[in-house]
Amino acid sequence: MPDTITITDDRTGKTVTVPIEGGVFSSAALRELDPTLYMFDPAYLSTAATKSEICYLDGGNGILRYRGYPIEQLAEHSTYLEVAYLLIYGELPTEQQLADWVHEVTHHTFIHENMRKRFVDGFHYDAHPMGMFCSAIAALGTFYDGAKDIESPEARERQVMRLIAKSPTIAAMMYRFSVGLPFNQPDNDLSYPANFLNMMWKVGDYEVNPVLERAMDILFILHADHEQNCGTTAMRVIGSSHADPYSAAAGAAAALYGPRHGGANEAVVRMLTDIGSIDEVPAFVESVKAGEGRLMGFGHRVYKNYDPRATIIKKTAYDVFDVTGKNPLLDIALKLEETALEDSYFVDRKLYPNVDFYSGLIYQALGFPTDMFTVLFAIPRMVGWLAHWQELLEQEQKISRPRQWYTGPDERHYVPIADR
Ligand code: CMC
Repeated sequence: MPDTITITDDRTGKTVTVPIEGGVFSSAALRELDPTLYMFDPAYLSTAATKSEICYLDGGNGILRYRGYPIEQLAEHSTYLEVAYLLIYGELPTEQQLADWVHEVTHHTFIHENMRKRFVDGFHYDAHPMGMFCSAIAALGTFYDGAKDIESPEARERQVMRLIAKSPTIAAMMYRFSVGLPFNQPDNDLSYPANFLNMMWKVGDYEVNPVLERAMDILFILHADHEQNCGTTAMRVIGSSHADPYSAAAGAAAALYGPRHGGANEAVVRMLTDIGSIDEVPAFVESVKAGEGRLMGFGHRVYKNYDPRATIIKKTAYDVFDVTGKNPLLDIALKLEETALEDSYFVDRKLYPNVDFYSGLIYQALGFPTDMFTVLFAIPRMVGWLAHWQELLEQEQKISRPRQWYTGPDERHYVPIADR
């Protein structure tokens, strides 16, 4: 059987035959048939918008790999900063490369004092930390001369490193502001996740628990990239206009903020809290089936099998609960998962727990308030956004500019207001 597809325009009888490569064929063939013809694909359900070498996802078989390495192996053996290096540079680092990279990131964690004094202090006391995070990432770009120098690989590399280094500092700063606590400066002697936990929680004597430090690192690894999701697509679309990476990352973070994307972990905890007890689970599931809302933390555009990240997170949750005590919402979550997975509504639609179903329970056990959850997703996803941004610029892709199917009125004439 040839690896081609043949398209015939029945209006003209014209035919084109196009090769299929890796399950994809180029839509440029349509323009050969008729240059005014476009494909209608809202939400890009059947469209590959780019070639990419960063992340491989097989939703049918529950496979996720970064640069070819299975997520399970990275979560077990690697660290977030090593994974960050892998995603940005394409290969696992040597010992020396890793030491240099960790040193660089660790020594760029500080934020200009004016960010806190002039910028952060301007927010209302109860501002949502994710809203503050998005704005702060955009504002950060105004502090660096080279931010707009996107043609220079060296300048790009500097911004990439700064954004990875400073994201946890900004996140912790937003939290401390929201609870009225003085900001903790970064501590260069601590690992990336320990430094973040320290900036978050240190009041008086505070030592980061190594189990919780490792759990945080695993969560960062699991959230580091996920190919062309909504936030990453936003990063690539904005990046394609050659905006600076801070502005593009702020846009990506804004996309992540939504409850159908990174905001789902927050929505899961609110949902479990509202359900209140395991006795209420069947009634809740019935209400979802009746269309009265969605089962948050379930379903995925790409995974039509168990999300492999959910399996790792579920295990990590138990490690964390051994230290912090069990999250009381766990029993409701387990019952909900069991009930949904036995119900044909969810089975037929291939709705399984996704990464957000259990991550919120861990975050809550670690002491994070729910409105910090999406920020916890944004910190590690920063590296994914930046890896795709670098790849986009290296590919020299044109500016993103989809077409539309116009369905509005034909030409009509302006009517003076008195005559309407
Ligand atoms: N609860 C109940 N029904 C659902 C759910 C859900 N969570 N998700 C999808 N469905 C139903 C939906 O109603 C539809 O049913 P029908 O065919 O009868 O109309 C069918 O399943 C297909 O849904 P869809 O909206 O076409 O699927 P999608 O691929 O556009 O949506 C999703 C994917 C993740 C937005 C969606 O599953 C959802 O809203 N899930 C809840 C929010 C959530 O957990 N998001 C986190 C995603 S993972 C983290 C990330 O990568 O951002």
